[in-house]
Amino acid sequence: MPLLEWSESYSVGLPQFDQDHEHMFTVLNYLHNAMRCGQDPVIISGSLEELWLHTERHFRAEETFMQAMHYPGFAAHKSEHLSVLLQMANLKERYEHGEAHLNSELIELLLNSLEHIEGSDQRAADFSASNPCQQVPA
Ligand SMILES: [Fe+2]
Ligand SMILES: [Fe+2]
Repeated sequence: MPLLEWSESYSVGLPQFDQDHEHMFTVLNYLHNAMRCGQDPVIISGSLEELWLHTERHFRAEETFMQAMHYPGFAAHKSEHLSVLLQMANLKERYEHGEAHLNSELIELLLNSLEHIEGSDQRAADFSASNPCQQVPA
């Protein structure tokens, strides 16, 4: 059973970013189940790496988008990205150092990500929608 399934209600209205967010949910759900079931550590490490790379790429895309439209909340948003990446890197490192069950950390990461999507990402998307002269493709 998934930890928290992606739902259209989490959409920020920008399809490219929604797809990225949905993928994050998929990988986090997979990892939660895989750790619970004691899956092969090589596969779990690979997924943690993939999650980090995907998230880093996604954050860079959002930051480019925000900069291009001169978004006033850019600096605060970027610092939230940094804190999610640090949380993710810490989880990966702990797993690689033998902590096989990090389920509560995964739940925390998923909830933080959801809060970020529904708060900061939604505000950036709303800014784009309400400033037609500054719209750039997501
Ligand atoms: Fe995002
Ligand atoms: Fe973001």
